Amino acid sequence: MTQETQGRGAWGNRLGFILAAAGSAVGLGNLWKFPYLTYRFGGEDPEQGGAGGFVLIYLLCVALVGLPVMIAEVLIGRRGRLNPVGSFRALRPASPWRLTGFLGLLAGFLILSYYAVVAGWTMEYVVKSVAWDFAGNDPVQMFDDFVSNPVKQVAWFFVFMVFSVLVVIGGVSKGIERWNRILMPLLLLMLLILVVRVFTLPGGGKAMRFLFLPDFANLDLDMVLWALGQAFFSLSLGMGALLTYGSYLPRKANIGLACVAIAGLDVFVALCASVVIFGSIFSFGLVMESGGIGNLFTAIPAIFLKMEGGRWMSVIFYVLVSFAALTSAVSLLEVVSSYLIDEKKMLRRNAVITAGTIIFAVGVPCALSFNLLAGFTVLDRTVFDLFDFFCANLALPIGGILISFFVGWVLTTEEKKEELGEFSPGLFKVWNFLVRVVAPLAILLVLGALLMGRVSG
Ligand code: PFF
Repeated sequence: MTQETQGRGAWGNRLGFILAAAGSAVGLGNLWKFPYLTYRFGGEDPEQGGAGGFVLIYLLCVALVGLPVMIAEVLIGRRGRLNPVGSFRALRPASPWRLTGFLGLLAGFLILSYYAVVAGWTMEYVVKSVAWDFAGNDPVQMFDDFVSNPVKQVAWFFVFMVFSVLVVIGGVSKGIERWNRILMPLLLLMLLILVVRVFTLPGGGKAMRFLFLPDFANLDLDMVLWALGQAFFSLSLGMGALLTYGSYLPRKANIGLACVAIAGLDVFVALCASVVIFGSIFSFGLVMESGGIGNLFTAIPAIFLKMEGGRWMSVIFYVLVSFAALTSAVSLLEVVSSYLIDEKKMLRRNAVITAGTIIFAVGVPCALSFNLLAGFTVLDRTVFDLFDFFCANLALPIGGILISFFVGWVLTTEEKKEELGEFSPGLFKVWNFLVRVVAPLAILLVLGALLMGRVSG
């Protein structure tokens, strides 16, 4: 351990890393955004086709681009043993590569400023579940009323940011790791209960066909861009979150296996959430507004309303979703904070409060995008949509190209083999090829199409 990396904290053990990284990956991206995108790209009528094409492309993006880039990103962190900027500098001093770290910081900063808004929605839904406001009300109308209330939007956003700040101040092992150990398994259990339940409803089978029957009728480049962006977003890639977590990883840990476990779990949760949400939509004939952006908040209460003990299940469900959002938000805030701690020599507490305050200020227009600022659009998008599009579909994939290029072409084979000792020579070759050629090329093609106006986004 060098002087610079001393006292940064470390995971209690290897499982701690897997759980924390999975905690970062599994979040609103799986539970809210993936089902919302499948809705958008699948159309709302299962008789007219489905989202199978989008789902298949997403899975390909995860396997061929996401997973290799994830291994590359964790590798940089574990070798550099610092925050994103510092790790690039430690591995290639006096080179412009540390700018990749800065791009990551910017993305992390912006993602949290709209992510925490949706996370705030989950907290309102905890309260709504306790009060059982869903009984006798139209869930779609209820959601629309809620997001059009500017005071509630900003207030919940603020509350959620305070929670995130408190956890991150608690530090790596005590704060982040402890919560993940308990809550991740509980969330999985709850989702599985819902999946079983949905199959007892008439829409369960329809949901499966909608999601898994390959259907390329509506396949286009736009869909590929969103699938790729979603793979980065959902796996927490391209901005240094997993790099930072990797920097707390012991030398001995097996990176490849950990990454496969994290990606597998992430995909599993996204698919379960979609089955549940579409099962409900098809069973209860719910009509979603705004491209399905609220379907986590409308389709799920509809199921609980029809369930024995639904009220308390609903409370538990939204509490768990809030925590899933929190463990992801914490990883975003940790990236920005670890930069301030390592590079600006700030005390953890001051670093986290400073970052949290600025992120809140930048995020207020996102919280107002569904009400006061709904009419204010740039490039046809509200501030909320603009941040999401810029971060998920541009900044993260660009970060991904830079990370894969750095690991693929700049690091030497010896350096890589030292970190991936557990890979057989064949597996190493496959991974190296994916990182050197397939991942950067695939991303470049999609972004190139965007630049040439072939994709509207
Ligand atoms: N992966 C998180 C989710 O799916 O909710 C969101 C996220 C966290 C994106 C951390 C990027 C990141 F660095």
